[in-house]
Amino acid sequence: MKLIRCKDYDEMSQIAANIVASQITLKPDSILGLPTGGTPVGMYKILSEKCAAGEISFEEVTTFNLDEYYPIKRENDQSYWYFMNKNLYSRVNLRPENINIPNGEASDPQKEGARYDAKIEAMGGIDLQVLGIGPNGHIGFNEPDCCLIAGTHQTSLTDATIDANARFFAKREDVPTSALTLGLGNIMKAKRIIMLVSGKNKSKVLNQIFEGKVTCENPATMLLMHPCVTIIADEDALNG
Ligand code: PGA
Repeated sequence: MKLIRCKDYDEMSQIAANIVASQITLKPDSILGLPTGGTPVGMYKILSEKCAAGEISFEEVTTFNLDEYYPIKRENDQSYWYFMNKNLYSRVNLRPENINIPNGEASDPQKEGARYDAKIEAMGGIDLQVLGIGPNGHIGFNEPDCCLIAGTHQTSLTDATIDANARFFAKREDVPTSALTLGLGNIMKAKRIIMLVSGKNKSKVLNQIFEGKVTCENPATMLLMHPCVTIIADEDALNG
């Protein structure tokens, strides 16, 4: 596991964008795994600017998002599809048919999970998975639990995650309580992973990773078992 120390959010975003940009420059038909949340917004802005300036192209890139609330309609301004469209899809030259996100309108979440997994496999797997981390250690919506699930699945959000996400909603009661998420197995199969960590509220779970113990209480510690992970963390997260 490699650690890149950054002074602040902007530097973290710049370094993450540079890594994604070099990935798609070296392999124009890369399969990217992408996160939502506050953390990657800066990275998406820089990638959009690089694309507009002609420095990089998403024309042959395929994306798979980590998760989506369930159930939720695509056009709902709280859906992750809406977030991705606003922050990246509508700002770069990704082909609509190359964009994948778990379907929050699927009638059968189990079938949707199997469909999503099969599509990732059929594409040859994720080349570069970008991750954020929840203040409780979740990656995607793989919440702390006594067992962790390998494939894409429906899950309930913990109170801690509902609390953390309430800042994006008018009131806490509006936060969806369920989601579809890639499983830990999907994430661990990615060829390369970068995890962006910013803010004092992430320092506890980040330190738990550095302690070197893999636990279900902090699903992100699973990354200790992956051969190619880079953590890009700012000073607040490192020194909390
Ligand atoms: P955040 O969320 O980027 O909004 O902190 C990260 C996550 O929950 O994975």
